[in-house]
Amino acid sequence: MRAFGSIIQLISLFSTVSSAGALWGSLRYSTHQQQPLVSVGNQQHSVMDKLVPAFLKPQGSASGGDLTTGDDRPVVSDVLPKTKGINIFAQLTRDFDSISSRLNDGSRNITVLAPRNSAVQSLPRKPWEDPEDYAKLGEVNAYEGNDGKERARDNLRRFVENHIVPISPWPADEEVESLAGKKLKWTKEGDKIIVRPLRSDLKQNHGLTRESQLQPGSIEVDAVAEKVANGEVWVLNGVIDSKSG
Ligand SMILES: *[C@@H]1O[C@H](CO)[C@@H](O)[C@H](O)[C@H]1NC(C)=O
Repeated sequence: MRAFGSIIQLISLFSTVSSAGALWGSLRYSTHQQQPLVSVGNQQHSVMDKLVPAFLKPQGSASGGDLTTGDDRPVVSDVLPKTKGINIFAQLTRDFDSISSRLNDGSRNITVLAPRNSAVQSLPRKPWEDPEDYAKLGEVNAYEGNDGKERARDNLRRFVENHIVPISPWPADEEVESLAGKKLKWTKEGDKIIVRPLRSDLKQNHGLTRESQLQPGSIEVDAVAEKVANGEVWVLNGVIDSKSG
């Protein structure tokens, strides 16, 4: 457990203190390219800087948010960082080039289902952790070494992509697949909007309806926070669990 000890320690930090930065920052992975590491001990860094581990920093100078579309209307990538209460998620989207450029793409609409900071922070496991990795590789080795860092990064990308739906407007009761391939739909219940992950693994036999089976893990939408040219930002009171389907 030696190698893993610091992660355990950080996990408890993450869940008990608002100091998410301590956790993110300490995972100083640098997978694809050598990047200057963020000095997380430095209190001068903004909260946003501290939220994300160095290995997630965008590679290259042109992160999606900086590209221009030749159109002055705001797009999702403009408003996401300014939406209150979801900075952790917003920052994560910016750390994957494929995702940030998608949010900046005025020609393809998306609905972003951004979980509140508190929902991300109170997860029973971290967004980059997958119980299957632990089962297969063991707690010590799951995220060790370069392979482990790749694995963590892939898990994290999937976490973010599970919260992005490639259409907008997204009609009620319409089943769509998130960018990570998770089937979702939303329904109105009273004055609440509920997003539901759907099982994609059930065969459509045994006289079941053709619709995918509803899963536990429904999440209440707190607000539709933004509507812009290429889509909407919804704020969720929970996270979409990639394992609940
Ligand atoms: C994209 O979103 C805009 C703004 O909501 C909407 O007017 C437009 O019809 C959408 N386009 C598609 C293809 O859904």
